[in-house]
Amino acid sequence: MFGQIFSSVFAWTLIAILAGLYRFTTKQRPIFPVVNDYRGDFFRRKAYREYNQNAKKLIVDGLAKHGSPITLRVPDGLKIVLPSALSEWVKTNRDLDHQELIREEYFAGFPGFEAQDTLHAPDGMLIKLLRTNLSQNEEIVPTVNRHIGPALQHYWGDSGIWHTIDWEDDTTGIISRAAASIFVGPEKAADDEWQTVVQAYVREYFAAVSELHTWRASLRPIVQWFLPHASACRRLLHQSRAIMQEVVRKREREAQAAEDQGLVAPRYNDVLAWTMQVPDNKHPAGDIQLALAMAALFTTTELFKQILINIARHPELVEPLRKEIKTSLLGHGLGLTALAKMELLDSVMKESQRQIPVTVGLERKVIRDTSLPDGTKLPKGSHIMVDATDMWNPEVHVNPEVFDGYRFLKRRHAGDKASQFVQSSREHIVFGGGRHICPGRFFAGTELKLCLAHILLKYDIRLKEGYYPQPMVLGVYAIVDPMTQLEVRRREHTEDLVF
Ligand code: HEM
Repeated sequence: MFGQIFSSVFAWTLIAILAGLYRFTTKQRPIFPVVNDYRGDFFRRKAYREYNQNAKKLIVDGLAKHGSPITLRVPDGLKIVLPSALSEWVKTNRDLDHQELIREEYFAGFPGFEAQDTLHAPDGMLIKLLRTNLSQNEEIVPTVNRHIGPALQHYWGDSGIWHTIDWEDDTTGIISRAAASIFVGPEKAADDEWQTVVQAYVREYFAAVSELHTWRASLRPIVQWFLPHASACRRLLHQSRAIMQEVVRKREREAQAAEDQGLVAPRYNDVLAWTMQVPDNKHPAGDIQLALAMAALFTTTELFKQILINIARHPELVEPLRKEIKTSLLGHGLGLTALAKMELLDSVMKESQRQIPVTVGLERKVIRDTSLPDGTKLPKGSHIMVDATDMWNPEVHVNPEVFDGYRFLKRRHAGDKASQFVQSSREHIVFGGGRHICPGRFFAGTELKLCLAHILLKYDIRLKEGYYPQPMVLGVYAIVDPMTQLEVRRREHTEDLVF
């Protein structure tokens, strides 16, 4: 018995020492009150559980209780959450950087993760191109549109009988092909091998990032060589480079042949072509394509899925949406003006963003010591984010928990200047803000409107009876219910079509 007591005392002492050591070695000094520290929680199991399951409540209650910024303890360290009143300060402060944070948290520099290096490269090439050539580019509308019909036929089929789609593949596939029509161009947009590589890379990349976050920072550069998702990224990057090199060579050969014959070379209007025209572009075409997919695919598909769920749940929206789409296209032809006239659809899209409960925005790293407007110092290296829970604040929205497809349309008609899908505001910072505001938001809007217009005019959709999708929340982030079962059938009355 003595032995038992001794061994249990010894075991507990050892555990306490190790816990103390762990805490000591991982100690960062919080500047603001930590809202998920609990007495006796040596291994921070409760802290992380509360963060994972109740981040929104921790933020709302914490900000209200302390009347100052708060600190969240997350598995990777400490995050400062600022109240939304400071969003303008965050947007304009040059001591804060978004790209530095993303490079760090998404492991730029690891082999196989070059897409991240390319997206946030110091030359800013890709982001500049997206801002100048992609945003509000009228010419891309018919191209994207041309690819959506065949993509829908491929993934959703022509059957007039209700059938369940593959929730992951048959939503991602449509967005991926629509985007690829402008990212990679006609040669590969609908190519199965290319689509498999691109979609797999995005999946593997985000899985690899999550996998790496479960390891201590000092071990990550070593373990990444052995982790399955990180290894898959290296393999897929290699494949992407090989496929894209072929396309680049093909286009170069075409241009040469045209020049030799005194003809005009074929003109491409896609990101691949734009990057080929950039003097001194050092980024391999395969890396650029994966970088684009990484930024655009998951984000847009998540929203696409949530919009489909909301339309399926609210069949009363379908006829007004169909009418609006037809009137806009018949009145203005296929182009940006027609898309801009789809105001109810725009409102449904923006309202759907509120159904994915991501509770922070404007994530930044402090790259130089800086001070809040009240003088509080934020040391270099701190990670900050801004409270985004105004999206569900009853002082901002009437019945904030209810989905109202007309919510932002009503606000727009009442004179609100920030109620359009692509607009970012303190109360709705889903696209971020300031110099890092999402440069792909106009393209995401165009792509989503076109896909939804096709779907609404050509298909009926509904949720499997009795299934009520719920977003999956993990900390301050959330994803659309991955188990959703959506049923679709092709409509009979194709005379409705205006495409
Ligand atoms: C619904 C879809 C999308 C959402 C919700 C979204 C959201 C965001 C957010 C929150 C940021 C950070 C902004 C900040 O912190 O200030 C961002 C940045 C970025 N997004 Fe998007 N995005 C979407 C679609 C796209 C698309 C389609 C593209 C590409 C065509 C894209 C390219 C980028 C890039 C390159 C950045 C980095 C900007 C920088 O660091 O300066 N995004 N996006």
